[in-house]
Amino acid sequence: MIKKGIILAGGHGTRMSPLTKAVNKQLLPIYDKPLIFYPLSILMLSKIKEILIIINKGQLNQYRKILPDGKNLGIKIIYKEQSYPKGLPDAFLLGEKFIGKDNVALILGDNFFYGQSLSKTLLDCVKLKKGAKVLLHKVSKPELYGLAKVKGRNKIVSIKEKPKKYFSDLAITGLYFFDKNVVKFSKQLKPSKRGELEITDLLNRYKKKQQLYADYIGRGGAWLDTGSIEDFYKTSAFVSAIENRQGFKISCIEEIALNNKWISKKNIIEAIKFYGKCQYSDYLRKLI
Ligand code: TTP
Repeated sequence: MIKKGIILAGGHGTRMSPLTKAVNKQLLPIYDKPLIFYPLSILMLSKIKEILIIINKGQLNQYRKILPDGKNLGIKIIYKEQSYPKGLPDAFLLGEKFIGKDNVALILGDNFFYGQSLSKTLLDCVKLKKGAKVLLHKVSKPELYGLAKVKGRNKIVSIKEKPKKYFSDLAITGLYFFDKNVVKFSKQLKPSKRGELEITDLLNRYKKKQQLYADYIGRGGAWLDTGSIEDFYKTSAFVSAIENRQGFKISCIEEIALNNKWISKKNIIEAIKFYGKCQYSDYLRKLI
């Protein structure tokens, strides 16, 4: 079982400027809660309780105000600052001590996942023992994504970053599961032409060993990346539509912790006090 997870929540957030000049992208709102709640929920739904959040230098106080140390959620959150965005595999260099000799999940701080059988898929993915696994999702504009070609149901035989010519329509989403070799492999990577360590290069290491596997977010599920202002707006509209229709919240972290039996009613009452008089607190009150 994978018991540790990393959220990569730094980045320049260039496309979101000027919104991201003073506030980190992951702390900006997707409808009624900060973006970071959504990837954190995905790790919690995977029953991962040990979480490392990688943030930009100087932003620790901002993050700690909303997510202190995880005790309120029955989990453990630690932070590590990244001096500048060196690429996604830098997560494993910064996380070396945190990972130790364990397998680990990585989720990008700006990725949004939602769907009916998602929890089941996640619980399957954390069973990974050897190799690496990525979640794929069919997209209508494949040329914008990192893509995978699959043999059989789940063996990835080829990957390509934003190819101009049609290659596959299965995008590699921002949620990955790795065995403990990930630190060793990441150390062997060299920066690409754009000066970053590339996740594609890391995944290719596993592919060469025939150890790169796929699972899927099917058509009943949604994967949205919230990199641009337009994406933020669309994802907010999606969350608002679902929440207002059903009366359930997407990615209410206290609700997930309560369902996992990691916290008790007492913690929910404390959370209500912490958030104050707001619609989110009204929802928490209904849970108990
Ligand atoms: P990106 O989308 O590559 O970058 P960004 O979010 O900074 O946005 P922009 O392209 O507009 O400048 O990053 C994906 C996610 O990973 C995002 O949540 C930021 C995070 N990230 C880091 O924390 N450190 C890094 O070194 C990189 C490359 C990304």
